[in-house]
Amino acid sequence: MTEETVKEKTEPTRRDFLYLTASAIGAVGTAYFAWPFLDSMNPASDILAQSSIDVDLAPIPAGTAITVVWRGKPIFVRHRTPEEITAAQQVPLSELMDPEPDKERVKKGHDQWLVVIGICTHLGCIPTGNKPTQTRGKYGGWECPCHGSLYDTSGRVRRGPAPANLAVPPYAFVTATSIRIGTSEAAHG
Ligand code: FES
Repeated sequence: MTEETVKEKTEPTRRDFLYLTASAIGAVGTAYFAWPFLDSMNPASDILAQSSIDVDLAPIPAGTAITVVWRGKPIFVRHRTPEEITAAQQVPLSELMDPEPDKERVKKGHDQWLVVIGICTHLGCIPTGNKPTQTRGKYGGWECPCHGSLYDTSGRVRRGPAPANLAVPPYAFVTATSIRIGTSEAAHG
């Protein structure tokens, strides 16, 4: 083996470097898109088996939110303050990227409760804003850490690149202080 051949086999070439760079970018991309990948490729059968879950709203103070998992997805359950409700109701639809009245995103008579799927509609990252230490962004809802999309107190997109509002899952009130996520049927009795 010539000295030149040994050198080729032991020193990284420019092509190797390009491969490595591409792999690194691929790894970052995987981290960003981890949620939809895991959601579609590796479902936790015990979680997915739960077609509906009940959530007790009583322990959630106004101005705070919790995250629960339903069918492998993060669901944001937010107890809105009167100011947050007013802000959501008063914004003109003409200012919205995905126009949708607040009243169509909450249950009648339960304006203080907003329930949305916590997956950014751009590329699937999980927006921040549920924890007290996290920023909620200019519009007071959620902020996506991946590319900066902003959502308001109704979960509607106010700045892209996200193209659509946070989705509202099917749910219904079981009692005045509890909901069942996974069904749209109103509870009886
Ligand atoms: S994934 Fe949220 S802005 Fe891109």
